[in-house]
Amino acid sequence: MGFRTIEDLCAELEEKRSKALAGGGKEAVEKQKARERIAQLLDPGSFVEIDEFVTHRCNNFGLDGKKILGDGVVTGWGTIEGRKVFVFSQDFTVFGGSLGEEDAAKICKVMDMAMQMGCPVIGINDSGGARIQEAVDALNGYGKIFKRNTMASGVIPQFSVIMGPTAGGAVYSPALTDFIFMVDKESVMHITGPEVIRAVTGEAITSEELGGAEAHNTVSGVAHFKAKDEAECFEQVRKVLSYLPLNNLDDAPVKATGDSPDRADISLRELVPVNPNKGYDVHEVLTKVFDDGEFTEVQAGFAKNIVTGYARIGGRSVGVIANNADVKAGCLDIDASDKASRFIRHCDAFNLPVVTFVDVPGYLPGTDQERGGIIRKGAKLLYAYSEATVPLISVIMRKAYGGAYLAMSSKSLGADVVLAWPQAEIAVMGAEGAASIVFKKEINDAADPSAKRLEKIDEYREAFANPYKAAERGYVDRVIMPEETRKAIFTALESIVSKRDTRPSKKHGVIPH
Ligand code: HXC
Repeated sequence: MGFRTIEDLCAELEEKRSKALAGGGKEAVEKQKARERIAQLLDPGSFVEIDEFVTHRCNNFGLDGKKILGDGVVTGWGTIEGRKVFVFSQDFTVFGGSLGEEDAAKICKVMDMAMQMGCPVIGINDSGGARIQEAVDALNGYGKIFKRNTMASGVIPQFSVIMGPTAGGAVYSPALTDFIFMVDKESVMHITGPEVIRAVTGEAITSEELGGAEAHNTVSGVAHFKAKDEAECFEQVRKVLSYLPLNNLDDAPVKATGDSPDRADISLRELVPVNPNKGYDVHEVLTKVFDDGEFTEVQAGFAKNIVTGYARIGGRSVGVIANNADVKAGCLDIDASDKASRFIRHCDAFNLPVVTFVDVPGYLPGTDQERGGIIRKGAKLLYAYSEATVPLISVIMRKAYGGAYLAMSSKSLGADVVLAWPQAEIAVMGAEGAASIVFKKEINDAADPSAKRLEKIDEYREAFANPYKAAERGYVDRVIMPEETRKAIFTALESIVSKRDTRPSKKHGVIPH
């Protein structure tokens, strides 16, 4: 018979490629989004697909008669702003994007490559979960992905983009990654769906209410970003990636800026009122301080009493944490502690300096908080700052009381440079509370107790509600004018960016959770 011609062999490859591109069939290709999504996410023309001829090996329930080239997931690599990333995108037109043994093997392959090359992994999830016909082999596939997610954590950035259903244990792979991006009215994540909940508890709830983008971005805190559509979602992914290094041994890219580090914004004097009981929008402080007025918020809709996100100063990426006096007076509670501590650990893992803006009255009092475990959650925040080895800069804008003062990146926990504004009040508690306790007898014995109380509050405020007591002891390194904040952060960062800090040798700590 002899050899076939090269033309014949290439024609065969061409035909197989077309079949692989057709995904779940002619009709399905119309709906198929897996490759389109990758194309939208990556730099144009940069995607290189691998494993496009992989098929499942399952013979159960007639599946042997239904083999689709590439099976339920498209995998490969490409670039975002010229930087290499590995990707997978589930194809809902192939068995509902469900995950069989071979899909898991494809995903694990790109994850292993990403780890070896030190590049981020971005997974686009659109799947009916474990492929039911493949039973325990499908479950084993998830297990292998979970293990890799965990091994990759803190080594390479891992992003999960949810663009369809994610049900059952399948939600745990995204939950093990750094960030979850969801699209409004399109993405859904839940462990047990509405039908199961109705059967077990009788509660009626829609899929969207239970596990939609809104629910996970505001109530549960499972997701980190919500987009109005897929295009905006991919923009968010590209934006977040621009602040990050490709891996834990790499440096984040420095972005050129025309915004001078010396720029002084005098409006900061008025923005934060001296009266500690008055609110203001801390986002405005951040946009006035950082390069080009840019601040990219993470978990914007969850635990709004604390703000987390990325910004740049002098072109360098930093993680930012700020109390938000406009919500719950900026106090710390369970959700805020969870949100901030995870973000700090993420920054620490990827060598991003953390800049903390402090204006905190304390921990939120209440039975819900105590019973919900504010002790362990609050401890987690102390732990996260204490174990961080990246450069830490704090700006005490106004209130810094008690345990919350300590928790918000204090000198005692290891802040490298602590700056304070002239209206900063660093004390065990606010002047009202403190005077009422310390001068209780004097106030009660006075002819006019309320006048005496006001006098004592003023006396206490004069003596302690300022940054200078802490500065005398070196807990504050510099007292600065509000408008000097940008320059002061820049110069602090330039001098501590080379920080090298080590921790005692151990397998790992036992973080309160
Ligand atoms: C095999 C599946 C599948 C699955 C969907 N399909 N899910 N095939 N295994 N898990 C197939 C359907 O049979 C159908 O095939 C096609 O995908 C499209 O599904 P539809 O139901 O027609 O689509 P839609 O109405 O949009 O509903 C999507 C859906 C629903 C909400 C995802 O299909 C669904 O509820 N699927 C099951 C979800 C689930 O319970 N999965 C297991 C979770 S447990 P045809 O041939 O008709 O087009 C889990 C454990 C992981 O994942 C554990 C890890 C530790």
